[in-house]
Amino acid sequence: MMDNWSPESWKSKPILQQPEYQDSDAVKQVETELSQLPPLVFAGEVRSLHQKLGDVAEGKAFLLQGGDCAESFAEFSATNIRNTFQVLLQMAVVMTFAGGCPVVKVARIAGQYAKPRSAGTESIGGIELPSYRGDIINDIAFDAAARQPDPQRLIRAYNQSTSTLNLMRAFAQGGFADLHKVHQWNLGFVQKSPLREKYQHLSNQIDDTLTFMQACGISSTSAPQLKETSVYTSHEALLLNYEQALTRQDSLTDRWYDCSAHMLWIGDRTRQLDGAHIEFLRGVENPIGVKVGPSMKPDELIRLIDALNPNNLPGRLTLISRMGADNITELLPPLVRKVKEEGRNVVWSSDPMHGNTVKASSGYKTRSVNNILKEVKGFFEVHRAEGTYAGGVHFEMTGQNVTECVGGAYQITEEGLGDRYHTHCDPRLNADQALELAFLIADTLKQARQR
Ligand code: TRP
Ligand code: MN
Repeated sequence: MMDNWSPESWKSKPILQQPEYQDSDAVKQVETELSQLPPLVFAGEVRSLHQKLGDVAEGKAFLLQGGDCAESFAEFSATNIRNTFQVLLQMAVVMTFAGGCPVVKVARIAGQYAKPRSAGTESIGGIELPSYRGDIINDIAFDAAARQPDPQRLIRAYNQSTSTLNLMRAFAQGGFADLHKVHQWNLGFVQKSPLREKYQHLSNQIDDTLTFMQACGISSTSAPQLKETSVYTSHEALLLNYEQALTRQDSLTDRWYDCSAHMLWIGDRTRQLDGAHIEFLRGVENPIGVKVGPSMKPDELIRLIDALNPNNLPGRLTLISRMGADNITELLPPLVRKVKEEGRNVVWSSDPMHGNTVKASSGYKTRSVNNILKEVKGFFEVHRAEGTYAGGVHFEMTGQNVTECVGGAYQITEEGLGDRYHTHCDPRLNADQALELAFLIADTLKQARQR
């Protein structure tokens, strides 16, 4: 077992990005309540994801991670969950079929409620209020009562996460994810897009393949993998009292698992080596992600890897680079090279979203699909040049027909951003744009496989 670690050892370390609650007794009560509620995930599932990510680390599979920037209470509905799930399935099936590579599916869902902010307060028209930190903490409305952190929100986020996860499990195992339904995953609005034909074509090929396999005696009955999938959950482990309350000791192995999600990641702003977030996550057995931004130095990265994965287990650690489209080919190679030289087993994944956020002249925060594509391409190029494996991608996307990122096959312009701009935090790819990326990645995976 870990030296000097306990589920609350993080409390003795410096911590960033936490809310300031007015009533600390109320917070304690909520923490006690949460710690008695059932875990969201089971340690055995976490171990199976660990194993699959181990395959990714060894170049035998690809990681697809994606979902909302921030989940919210207002946008919680079966339709939204289904649509997000559906886009994830579409992307996965494109990569699996066209790329010819097993895809490990991890959603940013059922817990992605807490957001790090660049400043603790926000001022509008001379009024200064606490920043919005995500629905698990306070309300986005700009008024004093709404912005006051409310501990009851932890319970609400937990409850919303349980019902979200329940529906996800039903979709994954109950027939919705059946490969025979691949045509039906197309969302209404993609019907109008240039991507429609490409997806139709791929769906037809899958149908033909399934018919062929059926004729050969392989069906959903003999091979249930055809009608089922596994979609794992993940979120940024930011709000540590929530994570601690859901951390449980597995009765089979006596080890600690953060049962709020299968996989957790640490943001670029909270990855201080001597800080509370690293301390907490080093002690749980879950697969861990770390966002790696432009300020990361090679030596620092090795120390971080050793803190989080001292036994060098493949699948334990995913490094999620977010450098920006214009910086990646310069900033990523020294890091990749160092990790390779030092023989550390990691999954390299690309977050092409967070280094490419800009403010449109209309005032909307946006990202251009071109820059997102450019960063992903740069990511693949770097790994090809270094002889390492580009193992995955990490997207912010939604199944809703939003207009938050500019560009894409169905050209969204800066002027058009206001049409359907719904995000509670960062701009997300819509289904159409996400699918375009999936096709690009599939092509790249296929080329890599043929080499
Ligand atoms: N079980 C396989 C997998 O998850 C095949 C599969 C079934 C699948 N339904 C899917 C793949 C939906 C992608 C999307 O990979
Ligand atoms: Mn974000």
